[in-house]
Amino acid sequence: MAKILIVYHSQAGIVKEMAYAIKQGIENTDDFEIIIKTAEQADQEDLRTASGIAIGTPDYFDYMAGTIKDFFDRTFYAVQSKIRGSLTANIPCVFFVSGGTGGGPALESLKKIGSYFKFNVIDYVSSGPRFTEDVLKKCELLGKRLAEEIKKE
Ligand SMILES: Cc1cc2nc3c(=O)[nH]c(=O)nc-3n(C[C@H](O)[C@H](O)[C@H](O)COP(=O)(O)O)c2cc1C
Repeated sequence: MAKILIVYHSQAGIVKEMAYAIKQGIENTDDFEIIIKTAEQADQEDLRTASGIAIGTPDYFDYMAGTIKDFFDRTFYAVQSKIRGSLTANIPCVFFVSGGTGGGPALESLKKIGSYFKFNVIDYVSSGPRFTEDVLKKCELLGKRLAEEIKKE
């Protein structure tokens, strides 16, 4: 069964709620093994074996959370391949962010690092500092779109 990795960091709970809404959206769409972990728990094996990935962070000082950056730092060598360039090349990916002002800078930082991993970034959801019905729906839809993209491959 194809595996989807959801990695997130959250202190006040918004990004965590978003992660679980994305998980729900995937589950509503198709059968996948879903691994949902905080950035501290996730490791290179989780990333290397995933057919798709969702990565979420709050905006901290106009950047991603340190634990998410650390996750990227810890896993980069493991996904580099002398033959293919990057084992994560073209893996479908979605981002989800939250911030006092919507998380735009954190999203940009994710996009930048995502380009080094060569993820196929499909879409993203941004949220303010509250988890609303609208955000819930957007996250479920994001999960559905990620699942559908993986099914296409
Ligand atoms: C250390 C720290 C730095 C933050 N820096 C920013 C920031 O630069 N811009 C912003 O819009 N929000 C900032 N915030 C607010 C959080 O991004 C926001 O509250 C977010 O919704 C928290 O997500 P969470 O509920 O998943 O922890 C900061 C919060 C913390 C704790």
